[in-house]
Amino acid sequence: MRRPIIVGNWKMNTNLADAIVLATSVKNAVADLGVEIILCPPFIWLYPLAEILEKSPSNLKLGAQNMWFAEKGAMTGEVSPNMVKVLAKYVILGHSERRSNFLEDNNLICDKVTAALENGLTPIVCVGEKHKRSLAKKPGRPNKLVTENDLFSQLKGSLKNISRNDADKIIIAYEPVWAIGTGDAATGGYAAEVIKDLRDILADLFGGPVSERIHILYGGSVDSENVREFVFQPEIDGVLVGGASLKAKEFIKICREAAGGR
Ligand code: PGA
Repeated sequence: MRRPIIVGNWKMNTNLADAIVLATSVKNAVADLGVEIILCPPFIWLYPLAEILEKSPSNLKLGAQNMWFAEKGAMTGEVSPNMVKVLAKYVILGHSERRSNFLEDNNLICDKVTAALENGLTPIVCVGEKHKRSLAKKPGRPNKLVTENDLFSQLKGSLKNISRNDADKIIIAYEPVWAIGTGDAATGGYAAEVIKDLRDILADLFGGPVSERIHILYGGSVDSENVREFVFQPEIDGVLVGGASLKAKEFIKICREAAGGR
């Protein structure tokens, strides 16, 4: 069974003092839990948090929220994989906020995924449809196809240059855009059904055994009340948490619930 992964995506939140308190609280609470926890603070806090988490439990790691794909150069404001890997083991790529606010497309995201893998970073690749799909399977219905083509082409396009050998080093986060930051989380059943389809695509791309080893997380308005609904589903290998990862008590509760959830 794939060990559940809980990612805290702090986005552009926290000041330095808050970041230190939050990371220290999580560090002190999660050592005995059977889940992997990845904290993704803003770039600028990675350095102080890497020091604080240096002797942290082995199930707690740092991740970046983005990076550029080139090693170095005239890229004002960007951060390279070489820089990220000094401080973090993971990097979120292709988040819907980057796709929509910074116009990142699948080609760019694929270049970033490739660069992350070349540098020994684990990419957490986000994909998600803009509109809710109908749960009832009605093959050939245009509304279903439009929605799914968008989601599926994100997955295929973001991974198109990735080799079978590298594929199982990637984590996928299924994050329906309509559920992010809205309080309107998907149901466990909805997320499991979509994730099953995503895993079928991974099987087509990389083969069944590789696809079975890839973690696929759910993200979108996850909190301590609904997290078990997701991690109880055998198809769902953990959660990516935004807003609720900013409150230490709530995030620790999410980790505890997830650890007991399967
Ligand atoms: P949310 O964000 O948990 O606040 O909905 C999730 C995300 O965007 O990663």
